[in-house]
Amino acid sequence: MKQVKLKDKEFTVSISSEKIQNVIVEMAKKINNDYKDKETPLFISILNGSFMFTADLFKHIDFVCEVTFLKLTSYRGTSSTGSVRQLIGVNESIEGRDVIILEDIVDTGITIEQILGQLKSFDPASVRVASLLFKPEAYQKNMKIDYIGMEIPNDFIVGYGLDYDGLGRNLADIYTLSS
Ligand code: IMP
Ligand code: MG
Repeated sequence: MKQVKLKDKEFTVSISSEKIQNVIVEMAKKINNDYKDKETPLFISILNGSFMFTADLFKHIDFVCEVTFLKLTSYRGTSSTGSVRQLIGVNESIEGRDVIILEDIVDTGITIEQILGQLKSFDPASVRVASLLFKPEAYQKNMKIDYIGMEIPNDFIVGYGLDYDGLGRNLADIYTLSS
């Protein structure tokens, strides 16, 4: 069985790159169908984790579109709601656009909730979320995740853009922390 060691932790392969690619093709078909009559939709990829997913999905999108990349600051203010992070890299081209947010994974949902909240103030025509991975057992929110590649158990994973302490993003397969 394929294993990797990153710092102090061992990971075992759990989702093959072939499976990931098949899931992405299926998601792209749905998005292509839903957006075929829209005027130049805008994909917003949330860095860092979504870079591989974005590149692979984007190759299967067959309508005229744009892509841009946003990052959440690592700054964490203290408030009653916990960590508040600011989206950086946003500009006014979002106004009136049909936006599709690309995320690597939705876990608790806190991150995507913050992103959606902040994007609203830029007045997009519509916003949908496409996430390669979703952990239903960890999800604490009610927002609809419009496109989900795969639901996975509530275990820590790395690979295909996802990291453990910055490491493992380069792996083509997805690996789960060995118990
Ligand atoms: P949430 O705010 O709890 O939904 O977490 C979302 C972010 O946490 C993702 O965009 C990832 O960057 C990170 N994350 C969540 N689960 C994992 C995991 O299993 N491995 C690596 N990163 C994760
Ligand atoms: Mg992320």
